[in-house]
Amino acid sequence: MGKATGITIDFMKKEDLDQVMAIEQSSFSMPWSRNLFLSEFRSPSVSRLLVALVPDAPVRTIAGYLVFWLVAGEMHILNLATATGSRRLGIARRLVLAGLRHGYAKDARRAFLEVRVSNDPARKLYSSLGFTGTAVRRDYYDDPLEDAVLMTLEEGAFKSLVASLQEH
Ligand SMILES: CC(C)(COP(=O)(O)OP(=O)(O)OC[C@H]1O[C@@H](n2cnc3c(N)ncnc32)[C@H](O)[C@@H]1OP(=O)(O)O)[C@@H](O)C(=O)NCCC(=O)NCCS
Repeated sequence: MGKATGITIDFMKKEDLDQVMAIEQSSFSMPWSRNLFLSEFRSPSVSRLLVALVPDAPVRTIAGYLVFWLVAGEMHILNLATATGSRRLGIARRLVLAGLRHGYAKDARRAFLEVRVSNDPARKLYSSLGFTGTAVRRDYYDDPLEDAVLMTLEEGAFKSLVASLQEH
């Protein structure tokens, strides 16, 4: 986790979208469109978009991002990616922890997400934070067609994780 030293987390700005789209397109077989990101900006009561910023860069430089919804006491993680050259430095972990902390402060008590069954890096990341696989959604993804695992962070684990963050 210490490898991501100096990374800061901020809310995404529309001006970040060129960099975000480049990461998105190199990270997913079915990337989100720019319009999909823009639609998230239009729902500020529900949608939150965070970015991880490279420290000491001469211009604002995005290393990763996280998109989630806060609805009725639940946090739904919709999108997460780290730039290919910046992986395994703890950046996604920092983003998810920042999101969980924010979500908890906004009264979310349970968090969940869908992830491709073959996506070991993401499944390991979420497991390491206390998420557990709670269901399989058949043929959830296209291109390639694949099942999703529904991973959930239940209330007790969510509370303990946020409490441990406050101790640091
Ligand atoms: C999944 C992804 C977001 C992880 O980003 P990252 O910044 O490299 O992740 P972190 O460095 O924070 O890793 C945290 C932990 O996740 C796990 N992990 C991450 N990448 C891993 C990999 N390639 N193999 C095994 N475990 C991995 C490890 O437990 C890691 O902790 P460690 O480095 O101390 O062992 C990144 O690989 C990515 O952008 N993938 C493409 C997009 C994607 O799949 N998004 C998730 C959709 S649900």
